[in-house]
Amino acid sequence: MTFEREGGRSQGRRHSGEETHKPATPKPLGGRVAAVRIRDGHRRKPSSNRWLTRQLNDPYVLEARRLGYRSRAAFKLIELDDRFRLFRPGQQVVDLGCAPGGWTQVAVERVGARRGTVVGIDLAETAPLPGAALLRGDIRDPSTREAIAQALGGFADIVLSDMAPPATGHGATDHLRVAALVEEAFTFTSKILQPGGTFLAKVFQSGVEGALLAELKRVFVEIRHAKPPASRAESAEAYVLARGFRGGA
Ligand SMILES: C[S@@+](CC[C@H](N)C(=O)[O-])C[C@H]1O[C@@H](n2cnc3c(N)ncnc32)[C@H](O)[C@@H]1O
Repeated sequence: MTFEREGGRSQGRRHSGEETHKPATPKPLGGRVAAVRIRDGHRRKPSSNRWLTRQLNDPYVLEARRLGYRSRAAFKLIELDDRFRLFRPGQQVVDLGCAPGGWTQVAVERVGARRGTVVGIDLAETAPLPGAALLRGDIRDPSTREAIAQALGGFADIVLSDMAPPATGHGATDHLRVAALVEEAFTFTSKILQPGGTFLAKVFQSGVEGALLAELKRVFVEIRHAKPPASRAESAEAYVLARGFRGGA
């Protein structure tokens, strides 16, 4: 399986919808910017210090804060949309694993808060967001799936899944858990997606494999794998993009 690592930055506004806008993705931290260092005086573990230092120096974290995005993950979706043109104003979107809400914010911006419909779901509570219906539940639970369908009031044009189980640090276990969540997301998607619709899901770095890949190829016209620049190089995540749902999975 080959991956595309997208270069380049946001190419500016594409949609003409009044409520849509496209912030540029941030430049990598340049040499002219002084890196922030934290003092070791506090009783923090070395791993916590490393995490904090990375957060304080991450241009995506800084830009997310400046633009009011709830997570740096928002830029992954912005970059994927800039590259693959996922959204159109007025679309119906489901966002699986939406908390704290960065992807949901981007989806609302790009389909239009009044024209489109965005339904987000997460195990955790997601703070209210204008233009989105936010639910709490486990996507593996049939009652959660029913609640999403009701909130959407019809079929989806796009199902997004940035779902991730808590990392164990054990590569093989994490791989299996991510793969299981992608299968859950696909099973749900195959029931709620419009013919012609799009499925975008976080996967493990090796991409979708085996029976699921064969099934995706059977029910979608086009399958791509990508790792957007905002996805940290050291992260084991990547994304699968399946377009042109044939329906009737
Ligand atoms: C990386 S975070 C999503 C970040 C989000 N896309 C954003 O931009 O703010 C992954 C989320 O997946 C959620 N998740 C994991 N398993 C889930 C499940 N079975 N059902 C619903 N949400 C799940 C987690 O609770 C977590 O909030």
